[in-house]
Amino acid sequence: MGKLIVVSNRVAVPKARGAAGAQGGLAGALNSALRDYKGIWFGWSGAESDDENDEISTQSHEGVTTATIDLSHRDIDEYYNGYANATLWPLFHFRLDLTEYERETGKGYERVNERFADSVTPLIEEDDLVWVHDYHLIPLGERLRSRGLKNRIGFFLHIPWPPTRLFVSLPYHERLVRTMLHYDLVGFQTVEWRESFLHYCSEELGAEVNEETGSVTLDGRTTIAKAYPIGIDWDHFQAEGETGEARQAGQRLLSSTRRRTAMIGVDRLDYSKGLPERLDGIGRFFDQFPERVRDLVFIQIAPPSREDVESYKQIRAELEQKAGQINGARSEVDMVPIRYVNRGYSHAELFGFFRAAKIGLVTPLRDGMNLVAKEYVAAQDPLDPGVLILSQFAGAALQMPESLIVNPHSPDDMAYAIRTALDMPLAERQRRYEATIDTVRDDNVQHWTKDFMADLTSIGTSG
Ligand code: G6P
Repeated sequence: MGKLIVVSNRVAVPKARGAAGAQGGLAGALNSALRDYKGIWFGWSGAESDDENDEISTQSHEGVTTATIDLSHRDIDEYYNGYANATLWPLFHFRLDLTEYERETGKGYERVNERFADSVTPLIEEDDLVWVHDYHLIPLGERLRSRGLKNRIGFFLHIPWPPTRLFVSLPYHERLVRTMLHYDLVGFQTVEWRESFLHYCSEELGAEVNEETGSVTLDGRTTIAKAYPIGIDWDHFQAEGETGEARQAGQRLLSSTRRRTAMIGVDRLDYSKGLPERLDGIGRFFDQFPERVRDLVFIQIAPPSREDVESYKQIRAELEQKAGQINGARSEVDMVPIRYVNRGYSHAELFGFFRAAKIGLVTPLRDGMNLVAKEYVAAQDPLDPGVLILSQFAGAALQMPESLIVNPHSPDDMAYAIRTALDMPLAERQRRYEATIDTVRDDNVQHWTKDFMADLTSIGTSG
């Protein structure tokens, strides 16, 4: 068998893992996948070049070879900030109200996919497996096929797939989805997103769809659609948890909270994460149970993300206002209820924080999977575990039904869940932890990679 070629928009080598919280699940997952398979990880360097520069720069680090290109200011503006993050991201997270559509950014998206195809094609040999990731690169498979590539090519979508009725609001939606049918295998985080995709293919494209096997046949080509719930790098995360850095971080948090229970949230500063709604839930908790204000301290770690996109500027301003409002109303001279932190921390530090915080709050309005939920549970002390409050709209809720499941749109629901978590007896915390930990440990990122790769290797290709 040949080597593995992974292609994603962002390439993050291990040494750049410092701001783990800012990276999202994809970068960490691919690092682990590539450590286990010999291969090349191709994508954008994250840097801006002055002009069209086709130079590929390669690097090897801890067994992972990366090959990256720079993008021009215009490419970043149209492809990354524009079509990927102002059109596809909000639409795929069911936020039609935030979805912008501009013909020019659509063209930029196609142009950059074309550039990716030009640059990566010479790196691909006959028997190589190609695995493309996420919404930035949906058309890449078709672009590779148009260059004559007959290799097996798979695609994994790390974010949700919206219901057909929402999806059809995207101009040229057919064109985009038709390009996906040039992959041999298309992976989704959950069965729900896979079903929506199959529904679209049958209803809108008139493709022949087999719900059971997930096969989609159109114009003589067949693509298999399947769910592969992503997991965390359990071994690596546990090893991080053993470090002095993790212990110190936990100590630091504990010594600063004293007799109050620490509740923690860690999210990229993104509207899909439901952060204002979360603060509303916490505000409601303080309103309903004012006698308990001193029992709790909420720590929200929220590294800024995609700062050139307007909707991200707005969410940041909204959060600053809400956090300020609640703190203004509820603080005392010796006590502040919300610590709102706009920076990232290393994985080791996050492990320490998660273990020290007796409540984890993961309440996205919509999320493909959400690995913070899994990392929170993975970091708990089995003898005295904390409680995870989890949104019913995170892909992770399907795998972790024994968490305290909430509707993030309901401040009352969240307020009551916080009180339940604060008062939960040890035996029940342990029962919920025991019911969840196996899937967090066993359905890990290595398992995810192995499953996807096994299927990609064994299915036929329509080349
Ligand atoms: C999500 C996406 C990833 C993306 C990450 C961070 O997890 O699925 O593709 O890399 O967010 O976002 P950024 O725009 O900084 O790459």
